Amino acid sequence: MTSPLNPTRRKHRFGKAWMHEHVSDAYVREAKRRGYRSRAAFKLIELDERDKLLRPGIVAVDLGAAPGSWCQVLRERLGTKATIVAVDVLPMDPVAGVSFVQADFSTDEGLAAVESALAGRPVDLVVSDMAPNLSGIDPVDQARSVGLADLALDFAAHHLQPGGDFAVKVFQGSGLGEFEKAVRERFDKTYVRKPKASRDRSREVFLVGKGFAGEGLPRGARGAGHPGGAGEGGVK
Ligand SMILES: C[S@@+](CC[C@H](N)C(=O)[O-])C[C@H]1O[C@@H](n2cnc3c(N)ncnc32)[C@H](O)[C@@H]1O
Repeated sequence: MTSPLNPTRRKHRFGKAWMHEHVSDAYVREAKRRGYRSRAAFKLIELDERDKLLRPGIVAVDLGAAPGSWCQVLRERLGTKATIVAVDVLPMDPVAGVSFVQADFSTDEGLAAVESALAGRPVDLVVSDMAPNLSGIDPVDQARSVGLADLALDFAAHHLQPGGDFAVKVFQGSGLGEFEKAVRERFDKTYVRKPKASRDRSREVFLVGKGFAGEGLPRGARGAGHPGGAGEGGVK
């Protein structure tokens, strides 16, 4: 018998439970209805609604942008006068008004390509949804996630103008506490958010830094990944 979730009865890469959750997920359906490329769009929308990150006309950088739903939200909410630079190691279909760079952001070439797209403009907002390819080995994935978040913070510390904002995805676990401390040192206000659109079973949270204090550290001074220290502070 065919199932509405699998009418072709072909074997799926993911299990039945995953397929069921995905197809019946209200965020997936709403993303489809509104033309977003991914349900991840609603995570940025929620962060914005709570923390007022997106203002028309600003200069924004989207790290780890593919398939592009955050770019779509940025474009909608920042408007046509904004500058939006996005980077991903994967290709991405164009989003009108977004300068996309396909590069590995962890390399000097990747960083240089993003800087070249910015052409010296001071940045008002850095968002990062970068996530590592999961190896299935928890400590490895955790260290990679914190490493990517650290790269994003390092970039923000060197390119944000004073008062600028930052939002970054990072997995809960070892290294989060130290990373959160590093964000707190640079921003007037720091929040740990778990948007409703983020699945409960996902370890991801988002750190939001509001009001960049304006002082930077030399790139790479803290290195990628932090040992020890479980996440501190409440998740809201
Ligand atoms: C969860 S997805 C982003 C989804 C995106 N925010 C959206 O709304 O469509 C994470 C992305 O991070 C990218 N990524 C991971 N490491 C990266 C790196 N070193 N440089 C650039 N992109 C990276 C992955 O290729 C992946 O596309």
